[in-house]
Amino acid sequence: MREERRPHPWQVPGHLETRADHLTVDSIDTVKLAEQQGTPLYVFSEKRIADNIRYLRSAVESVHPRVKICYASKANSNMAVLDAVRRAGGEIEVNSGGELFKAKTIGFRPDQIVFNGVSKTEEEIRDAIEFGILAINIDSLYELEQTARVARSIAKRANVAIRIVPEIITGSHIGLQTGLLSSKFGVSPSQIEEAFKRALEAKDAINLTGAHIHVGSQTPDPQPFALAFAEMWKFLVSLYKKTGHRLSHINIGGGLPVNYLSDTPMADEIDQRERQMLRAELDPQQVLKAALEEACVQGEAELLEGLTIVFEPGRRIVGDTGLLLTRVCNIKHRPETGDTWLLTDAGYSLALSMAMYKWYYHLISASRADEAHVTPFKVAGPLCDSGDVYFDLERGARLPNYRLLPEQTNVGDLLALLNTGAYTLDQASQYNGRPIPAAVMVKETGEIKVIRRRQTYEDLCMQDVW
Ligand code: LLP
Repeated sequence: MREERRPHPWQVPGHLETRADHLTVDSIDTVKLAEQQGTPLYVFSEKRIADNIRYLRSAVESVHPRVKICYASKANSNMAVLDAVRRAGGEIEVNSGGELFKAKTIGFRPDQIVFNGVSKTEEEIRDAIEFGILAINIDSLYELEQTARVARSIAKRANVAIRIVPEIITGSHIGLQTGLLSSKFGVSPSQIEEAFKRALEAKDAINLTGAHIHVGSQTPDPQPFALAFAEMWKFLVSLYKKTGHRLSHINIGGGLPVNYLSDTPMADEIDQRERQMLRAELDPQQVLKAALEEACVQGEAELLEGLTIVFEPGRRIVGDTGLLLTRVCNIKHRPETGDTWLLTDAGYSLALSMAMYKWYYHLISASRADEAHVTPFKVAGPLCDSGDVYFDLERGARLPNYRLLPEQTNVGDLLALLNTGAYTLDQASQYNGRPIPAAVMVKETGEIKVIRRRQTYEDLCMQDVW
């Protein structure tokens, strides 16, 4: 009897597979791709971006008919990625004048854009009002006055939502939690009624349309979303009862997680809490159901009629649509410790969260993908920085100490860091005089498109004046 080959734990049928021992992305051979384009190389899948958007939309629309999926463009604001999002029917969240500019350039309509930010400038606010976007999410009482002032100066009204900072703890990394009173975000609950009052008083300049909460990124369970929704519901109901004013949308923020930790023996080395967070999978339908249940026990369910629910997912849309190909450039053995070190051409300058949050990206061999990954290696990037390693330098349990790769992995082998579609390319830097690599998109048609050209040494000097 033919033995069934166990699929690789990281395998995603139709997307991440192997052929002739090589890793393929949407049937494209990554080894050939790296030969043509060089390394390091970011690779994205257009189909998967579109699939993620369509899946999310249909999941939440099955619970509530009016939703907006405002893709958090900070996760990856490459123009081709934004274009793929727009064509798949997504809307957009921006966090700066630059992201607003990109959104407009790609062709998002004003009613498809929401604008967050803790420190917006007058120019950014003016651009947003002039374009007439769906909501400027107001981050403080000061910013409300500022927005009204800017609106008056150009004789327009600003659509605004008030960003509430509830005290809601999540199971995510502390650096990724934004719903805490100790965080820098949003208006305190004790100031919300005042914010609503002032917004309504400034009717000539302000159109109060919504409430917003973002509890954080990579939130592993539905509870924080439900609590956030209930908090906004409470304010929406009390505003309606006191003034008759109805908010037209509730924005539940981003934070839907990606499973970074495929079923690998290395998971056991990672701290239990961390493990749960990294391998979280949330059903968006359940998240919204839980939120509506939590809110509706408070009553006034009829206010849901005509209400739009806005989501701001970033990671969940692009995280699992990208990988980073990197070449082993050097190898060394340390007889004293018995370790073999592999030195790659991709350091934390290309995947910043690996250093900043000790974020786990699963590493596999792209050139020997079918071989058993059982040999432990110390793996590190090329930067002149001791922290540029694929393990937790402080010997914490946030990353495994070793990476498992095929026996005798060596110089020239091609490796792939998986699930690197979010918060990588946008956070890349030229640190250590390293040009930012190219990015390619495997299009739905199967065509390979360079969506970010590889920088050259000249690019390293381009903005400098001497
Ligand atoms: N909405 C707001 C207001 C946000 O601040 C964020 C993310 C999102 C939506 C999208 O969250 P997501 O769905 O992607 O979890 N640099 C970090 C991630 C910072 C996330 C910041 N805010 C990293 O490298 O992991």
